[in-house]
Amino acid sequence: MNTSDDLPGRQVDVIEKLRNRLAELQHGAENRLWPAITLTYAQSIDGCIAPFDGGSLQLSNASSQQMTHQIRAMHDAILVGINTVICDDPQLTVRLSSGNDPQPVVLDSQLRFPLDAKLLRDPCVRPIIVTSKLACDKKANQLITAGARVIRVRLQENGLIDLSQLLQRIKEMGLHSVMVEGGAKVITSFLTSRIADQLLLVIAPRFVGGLRAVHPTPTWEQEPQLQDVCYQLLEGDIVVWGSLNRGNGVKCASSSQAGVSNRLPECLPANAKKGE
Ligand SMILES: NC(=O)c1ccc[n+]([C@@H]2O[C@H](COP(=O)([O-])OP(=O)(O)OC[C@H]3O[C@@H](n4cnc5c(N)ncnc54)[C@H](OP(=O)(O)O)[C@@H]3O)[C@@H](O)[C@H]2O)c1
Repeated sequence: MNTSDDLPGRQVDVIEKLRNRLAELQHGAENRLWPAITLTYAQSIDGCIAPFDGGSLQLSNASSQQMTHQIRAMHDAILVGINTVICDDPQLTVRLSSGNDPQPVVLDSQLRFPLDAKLLRDPCVRPIIVTSKLACDKKANQLITAGARVIRVRLQENGLIDLSQLLQRIKEMGLHSVMVEGGAKVITSFLTSRIADQLLLVIAPRFVGGLRAVHPTPTWEQEPQLQDVCYQLLEGDIVVWGSLNRGNGVKCASSSQAGVSNRLPECLPANAKKGE
């Protein structure tokens, strides 16, 4: 008969697992062109991260929120999509735990970033806004004047920021680990590109019937899978941690087999068309 220790999904200290995985990824980091990537978000039992009509929803409990801030402090950068900035107006700082604030990075190809966002109010924080060369120079200058750094990278064919080029730029800036917090479109992008190294998911015991964390993705070549999965109960929230089978992040099927690391592939995407 199995004892609970024999079961594959063990209840352990998930923060410890995350910390160990980060340390593992830091080892030999100089050989990789991308930072270590941790995907972290809170969802309901029915897989939703926000109400159906958009907007903000506090899903996780106080302990889980504290853990999220601890995780922020363990990373050099924190990345969100522009819709999250518009909906939640987050600060993305470490407030419920000790430690340094990560560098905020926002994916915003059309520079919709609001000039009155909280991320621009903290004089100690200069968010990096990632856009393309097609974005309006005037708005870029306004954001720079307001304290942001604006960097331009190429777009993918679907009009979204090319993550492989962005991650290389982030690493060149000396940012060696990135926590990706959402929202749904960003989570889906990182999962479909298979460029996250680990996932820490908080599941709140409630139903929302809202915006699903992962968009329907009928075409992914190989669905991401968690390995070495473990979980922890945090006052009613279930926290799941797992290592992700990282692909090479771009469409190079032949080299996306097992063991492909976060070294930048020789086959950088040939889709650098729409401008940086
Ligand atoms: N529960 C949680 O843990 C959690 C965490 C964060 C957010 N949220 C919720 O999530 C909701 C927002 O999610 P969302 O899916 O609407 O938007 P999102 O993921 O926050 O932002 C998506 C937008 O980012 C831009 N973007 C640029 N490059 C991208 C890329 N490569 N991949 C993905 N996005 C890229 C695109 O806008 P452009 O085309 O204009 O560039 C895209 O529409 C909010 O309601 C927020 O409260 C929940």
